[in-house]
Amino acid sequence: MALVTFSSTMHKDKTVYAVAGSHTQTILSLAKENHIPIDFGCQEGDCGTCLVKVSSVDGKRSPMGGPLNIREVAVLKEMGKVTKGEIEKMYVDDIPPNHWRLACQMVVRDEDILVEYPSK
Ligand code: FES
Repeated sequence: MALVTFSSTMHKDKTVYAVAGSHTQTILSLAKENHIPIDFGCQEGDCGTCLVKVSSVDGKRSPMGGPLNIREVAVLKEMGKVTKGEIEKMYVDDIPPNHWRLACQMVVRDEDILVEYPSK
């Protein structure tokens, strides 16, 4: 069981359980299930609306999660959130290049994480 804490300046922090090892549950689907108001659009990794910042709960270990998928790479590059050099390093190290993720693409792993999201 992984604990995912959602945090926004506009809302109270909320910590929820995620089923570890599902290999399919995204941050966005977990947020929707728990009525957490993360902004989203396409839900397919194309628009960048669901941009979130992901780190470890205690701030000691980061970045968290698995490497970016191809859609995240394209969108985050276009948004200026990741550099070409960071992407190259990610393919060597097999870990995410930095804190920025797309909530609709990042799959929850068996690790406790903090997800910071902008919200209206
Ligand atoms: S909702 Fe469009 S990229 Fe996630």
